[in-house]
Amino acid sequence: MTLETHVDLKENLCMEKQPEPCGIVIFGGSGDLATGKLIPALCSLYSKNLLPESFFILGCLSYGKSPQSDEAYREMVKTLLKSYPGDIPGKVLEEFASRLHYLPGDYRDKGFYKALKDSLKKLDEHRGTGGNTIFYLAVPPSLFCPIVSMLATFGLTAEAHKGTPWVRVIVEKPFGRDLVSAAELNRELKKSLRERQIYRIDHYLGKDTVQNILMLRFANTIFEPLWSRDYVDHVQVTVSEDIGIGHRSSYYEESGALRDMFQNHMIQILALVGMETPVSFDATRYRNEKVKLMETIRPFNTKELSRWVVRGQYTAGEIGGKKVCGYQEEQGVAHDSGVETFVAMRLFIDNWRWKGVPFYLRTGKRMPRKVSEVVLQFKKVPHSIFSPILPENLDPNLLVLRIQPEEGLDLTLNAKMPGPRGCIGTLNLHFCYCEVFGVTAPEPYERLLLDCMLGDQTLFIREDGVLASWALFTPVLETWEKSPSICPLYRYPAGSWGPAEANNLLRMDGRQWKIPDT
Ligand code: BG6
Repeated sequence: MTLETHVDLKENLCMEKQPEPCGIVIFGGSGDLATGKLIPALCSLYSKNLLPESFFILGCLSYGKSPQSDEAYREMVKTLLKSYPGDIPGKVLEEFASRLHYLPGDYRDKGFYKALKDSLKKLDEHRGTGGNTIFYLAVPPSLFCPIVSMLATFGLTAEAHKGTPWVRVIVEKPFGRDLVSAAELNRELKKSLRERQIYRIDHYLGKDTVQNILMLRFANTIFEPLWSRDYVDHVQVTVSEDIGIGHRSSYYEESGALRDMFQNHMIQILALVGMETPVSFDATRYRNEKVKLMETIRPFNTKELSRWVVRGQYTAGEIGGKKVCGYQEEQGVAHDSGVETFVAMRLFIDNWRWKGVPFYLRTGKRMPRKVSEVVLQFKKVPHSIFSPILPENLDPNLLVLRIQPEEGLDLTLNAKMPGPRGCIGTLNLHFCYCEVFGVTAPEPYERLLLDCMLGDQTLFIREDGVLASWALFTPVLETWEKSPSICPLYRYPAGSWGPAEANNLLRMDGRQWKIPDT
C-alpha cells in the first residue's frame, strides 16, 4: 500500500538563512574528496542560488599534482562536473568555474603559507569576501595539525574580536585512531583554534534521511510516546555496502570497519534514534543530548567480548553475478591482513527510556547490496482477542527508516484483509522521497558546507562527541589487538550478509536480522 502524500511547497516551514560572503580554501583541491564531493556540492549550491553573492574557491594542491594553472584547474573541474548527473546549464558552470583558483605548494613549507596569505589577500579584495574564510582539510590526518599550526603561525586562523571576519576549519575523519590520539588531536587543534571554529564533519549527518530521524521524532507527536522500552522490543541498524575498498587500501589497512564506520556514522545514527528531546535544535543543546546518549551506552565487557561484538573479513565471492576477490587479495592489502571489513554489535543504553532494549548494529563491505536502514521493532500485542489467533501469530509492527537507497520510511500494520472471512494480514505503509518529491537525495556535503558558511555547528561533531565515541570503542580495539582469540576475526564470502556468528548476536536473544527478510 502506498501512502497518499500531499506536499505544498509554498507552505513548507524552512529554517534557511543566506550565508555571508566568504572564501573557501580546499587543501587537497585535486583529491578524490574535493573533486568527487566538495566541488560538485559547491557547484550544485551555486546553481540553486544558495551560495553568497561574493565567494571564491581556492584549491590547494601538493606540488607535482596536475593541473598547473587557474585555467587548467577550471578546465579539469568543468570536465568533471559535466560528467555529473543533474545537468548544470553551461552558463552556470562557466560562472561557477570562474570563481575557482589554484595554488600549488608543499603543505609543510613556510613558503607555501606566505603564498597562501598573499593569494587570500588578493582574492579577498578582488571578490569582496571581507576576510571570511573556510579552510577545508581534505588531506590525510597526519597533515591536520601541521597545516593548522602553520595557518596560525601566518595569522590565518585569527578571528576579529567580534568574530567578523571569521575563520572556520573543516576537519574530515578520521579524528584520531583511539581515545588517546583523538584527545591529542583535539588538544593540538585547539592550540590554534577555538572550538567554535572547528567543524568536524560526518557526512551521514548531512543526509536528508538522517536529519529526518529528528524531524520524525520531534516534529510529530505520534511516535515519541511509543519511543521507549514500553513499546519498542529492539532496534536494528544496518549499513551494508556492496563495494570493497577500491583504491583506498592504505587508508583501510590502518582503519578497518570499526574506525571507518562505527566510530562515526553508526554511532551518530544510534545517537539520533536514542537521544532525549533537546530543548531546541541549536548546536549546544542538541549536541548535549547526543553526547549524553553516547555516554549512556553500556561499556563493553571485554572479557566476553564475542557475546557483544563480531568482526569479519570478506573472502572471494560473487556480487550481482560478478566474481570479486577477497580482502587479502585486494591491491595494496597484506595477504595476511587481520583488518576487519565487517562489524556487528549488540549494545544497551542504560537509561530510563531504553533499559533492557537491545540495539543491534552492523556494517560491512562486500555485502549483497548497499542499504542503510534503521528498524524499530515494536512489542507484540499482549493478548489477542481474535481467537484462535494468538499474540505470537501477529507480526510485530515495524518502523523502518530507510536512509538509503529508496530514501523514506515504512510502517507495517496488521489489518483486516478484504473479504467475508475474518482474516488479518500485514500492510506496509510506504513513503519514498523520490516517489513523492520526484528528486534524488541531495549530496550531504551540500547541507554541511552551507551550514559551515552559516556558522551553524549543529550537524558537526563536537569535541566531547568524538571522545565519547572513542571511549566506547577503544577497549574493543585494544582487546582485538592484545587478546584476539577473545573475539576472533571470522571470514565471510563476498556477497553474503557477513559471518554467521553475527546472527548469533540476535539468536541468543531469540531474534534475527530483518534484512534481507523484510
Ligand atoms: C565513508 C567511509 O565515510 O563512508 C567509506 O570511509 C564508506 O568506507 C562511505 O564507503 C559510505 O558512505 P555512503 O554515503 O556511500 O553510505
